[in-house]
Amino acid sequence: MRPLVATIDLSAVCHNYAVAKRCAPGREAFAVVKANAYGHGVQEVVGALSGIADGFAVASLEEAAQVRAVQGQARILLLEGCFEAGEVQKAQQLRLDIAVQDHRQLQAVLSAPAGSPLNIWLKLDTGMHRLGFDSLGLRAAYAALAGNQCCNELNLISHFACADERGHELTEQQLECFLDVLDLDFDQRSLANSAAILMIPAAHMDWLRPGIMLYGATPFADLSAAELGLKPVMTLTAQLIALRHVAAGESVGYGASWVASRDSVIGTVSCGYADGYPRHAPVGTPVVINGQRVPLIGRVSMDMLTVDLTDSAGAGVGDSVELWGNQLPVDEVAQAAGTIGYELLTKVTSRVPRRYRPNE
Ligand SMILES: Cc1ncc(COP(=O)(O)O)c(C=O)c1O
Repeated sequence: MRPLVATIDLSAVCHNYAVAKRCAPGREAFAVVKANAYGHGVQEVVGALSGIADGFAVASLEEAAQVRAVQGQARILLLEGCFEAGEVQKAQQLRLDIAVQDHRQLQAVLSAPAGSPLNIWLKLDTGMHRLGFDSLGLRAAYAALAGNQCCNELNLISHFACADERGHELTEQQLECFLDVLDLDFDQRSLANSAAILMIPAAHMDWLRPGIMLYGATPFADLSAAELGLKPVMTLTAQLIALRHVAAGESVGYGASWVASRDSVIGTVSCGYADGYPRHAPVGTPVVINGQRVPLIGRVSMDMLTVDLTDSAGAGVGDSVELWGNQLPVDEVAQAAGTIGYELLTKVTSRVPRRYRPNE
């Protein structure tokens, strides 16, 4: 078997969910499990949070159906609402909470055949300008839905654009815009993603929506997951599958782009971009072997990458290699590669087997 595995620590997910809840005592939280639980495996993550999470949030009806298969009773929120009018009935059958973010979705809800009433989350565009009604449109949508038989709870939701950049002026403006419509009598309100849960108590409202923090990564560029009390969930482990001595002046890998400046020992690792490791990770991106950080060198190839072991006495073929996880935060690798932990976690491909450490 190819030596590459993503080990998922389910007790760490539960720990991180508890951190979110501790930030906002008395509030409820939708665990955001879209995109296959940010690459961790939706069935297993939802199963681990069973009886712990107040609800789950997803991006599509298909994802909602996967969660419903594991969670017969939990609240499941469709964050972007229904993409087609016909999905409203399916949402009723699955007993979902749905976002309604524009006039088209509003009409679909209002004209759907009578079914069990839905919990509807009217989405306000507070300044991200991606989805949602402006304030006037939202008031009109509220008037259309309030007291309508299609609607059980009538709720308010919005999303921050810059909560991960502490002190960003847009965050304050978005919060004000949200507060401005609270003269309407919503049943529930939701605004906070991980960054706002961790840093903006005024945004906590009734329902939190933690995503990235559940998976033990930080939403902030300048604050580590460990500093936030989060535990890593995914550890991506490969193996050293070859070692060779390369003389000064010789090159390594595709494009012969890396040239040894001294006689070097080069290790080949069983992980590449077809596994989700970023192809653009530059020379120097850290990798951990035998507890020691070593630098990536050369271009990442489809199934392999190479590291410089010249200064790491004792490394041998068969040694395990951590690409990220318990010893090396995914955020550090992401920063080196010019991206964010979210992208690395969600892009681990299906050919990488996930192994689950059970909830203790
Ligand atoms: C609407 C919405 N709410 C909550 C989240 C969770 O955000 P985060 O992963 O930053 O906690 C997302 C993630 O993209 C989202 O789109």
